[in-house]
Amino acid sequence: MASYERRSFDVLVIGAGGAGLRACIEAAAAGVTVGLITKTLLGKAHTVMAEGGIAAALANVDERDSWKVHFADTMRGGQYLNNWRMAELHAQQSPDRVRELEAWGALMDRTDRGKILQRNFGGHAYPRLAHVGDRTGLELIRTLQDHGVHQGIEVFNEYTVTRLLKDGGRVSGCFAYDRNKGSFIVFEAKALILATGGVGRAYRITSNSWECTGDGHSLAYEAGADLIDMEFIQFHPTGMVWPPSAEGILVTEGVRGEGGVLRNSEGRRFMFDDIPPLYRDQTADTEEEGWRYVIGDRDARRPPELLTRDHVARCILREVREGRGSPHGGAFLDISWIREKIPSSEEHIRRKLPSMYHQFMQLANVDITKEPMEVGPTTHYVMGGVRVDADTQMSTVEGLFAAGEVAAGLHGANRLGGNSLSDLLVFGKLAGEHAADFAKRRGTVSLDEGEIDLAAREALAPLDRRGEGVGGEGPYQVQFALQDLLQEKVGIVRDAERVTAALHEIQGLKARASGVAVNGSREYNPGWHTALDLKHMLVIGEAAARAALTRTESRGAHTRDDHPGKDPEWGKKNVVVRRSSTGEMEVDTIPCPVIPEHLQQIIREQG
Ligand code: FUM
Repeated sequence: MASYERRSFDVLVIGAGGAGLRACIEAAAAGVTVGLITKTLLGKAHTVMAEGGIAAALANVDERDSWKVHFADTMRGGQYLNNWRMAELHAQQSPDRVRELEAWGALMDRTDRGKILQRNFGGHAYPRLAHVGDRTGLELIRTLQDHGVHQGIEVFNEYTVTRLLKDGGRVSGCFAYDRNKGSFIVFEAKALILATGGVGRAYRITSNSWECTGDGHSLAYEAGADLIDMEFIQFHPTGMVWPPSAEGILVTEGVRGEGGVLRNSEGRRFMFDDIPPLYRDQTADTEEEGWRYVIGDRDARRPPELLTRDHVARCILREVREGRGSPHGGAFLDISWIREKIPSSEEHIRRKLPSMYHQFMQLANVDITKEPMEVGPTTHYVMGGVRVDADTQMSTVEGLFAAGEVAAGLHGANRLGGNSLSDLLVFGKLAGEHAADFAKRRGTVSLDEGEIDLAAREALAPLDRRGEGVGGEGPYQVQFALQDLLQEKVGIVRDAERVTAALHEIQGLKARASGVAVNGSREYNPGWHTALDLKHMLVIGEAAARAALTRTESRGAHTRDDHPGKDPEWGKKNVVVRRSSTGEMEVDTIPCPVIPEHLQQIIREQG
């Protein structure tokens, strides 16, 4: 048996982005011991990639806004596959979570009257995104980190969790290793919260950083939890497309929120060409109306660039496929045009979009105050994830909680921009509170030495294979093959033939992954880390493909070429993926929770 250190906590949180930090703060406030594991360093999380703002109905810029409008927008954006209770809690509690963040020291942009400033984003009826220029996620993490470090939370920087441990049907802890030294550590926990974020690294073009390999989704799946909505992967419409080294890097929706317009190679605002019926009465239907709106007439209707992300991404793809794309296979996003309307436009752009200004200047030699950017869709977010109870965030496995991107339900078939930051604040808090309560109410857990031994052998296998001389391929070849496969066959637009082929190829990649061998020792060995991440990425790929094949319609972020329309029957169910007793991935459907009459009334009223 390999040696390992052993630690014990009441509540253990995996992932130190916004959801994980917020959960830790809440659990610690309840008086339990809290451990926090991060694959990277505290303060570095994909949360920073939600740049443009936090959605919360503060009604500071437009007093017509309210939680009811926010709720209705979120449900419509998610094409009504959302868990209504999560959408209700989220809309009701977001304003308090933002004000709390401010009380903890977050510095937000201000209105003339000194209130938190809010900007427009796609699918939100009113300016709703509280923001700090285009660095909102960064300010959120900084604030939670500054606040969190005083709450007695023990942080384990640069540790990767490879397996959850169970005591009967209940989660009892996890097995992890130190990414620097390669040593093993076993955590015992009365309650465990997954806050591991997303899966973007399973795709070739992504805004996600290296950590986002779907660990939490896969750990939960292996532990027997249900995953839902895995067919819904969000392709943010605007990532960088050029130069190749910058491909996929996020171009915040805040650019469009500040007035940026999309054009094709003919110079036409193609977003006017296809406005979905659901949004037709809210959208400026002439170019001039759209322009008026973006210079601040809050009563005017919305420009089509601020339709939901799934739709904008598909429109860009259409322009590229039909030969009207930009030179490097995207579209043009122009914010510089506002100089026609705003005298100090250069200063305005640099103040409201400082990161975008520097990003394009330094990486692409483009001055966004004077010329358009080239942009195209990038894998940004997964709506699918661990199925949780709306009020407590507990999964279908006892003692296992999930919050933030790794949990599913709130966003349905498509997430509105800005709803991720409020999601992780609202549900991070609830997860922390209920995990602490669970840990207090329930007795201790015991760890199974056999399970620990298995986890250690699994972790060492890629290194052992090299030692035994049986290994061949390195992990990167398999990783790149999977990323290409998902990008091409389980991407923005799918069909049965391509997804079936993808599933077939994933079986082959699984076989290759189980044979990869890694050189070097356990210390500072990125090849070894990648070999262990492969298992997670393959679970993500298979889950996305199986769910995509099952949903024979097009809805939100899931577009089937062979099933173009929405099917009302599919509007009533979520696709579930779980591990069968024989270890195979099985697919099921469950009815969406029925929306109570008073909330249906709100949806009707808000149109
Ligand atoms: O475009 C953005 O700033 C991203 C925001 C989000 O994903 O919520």
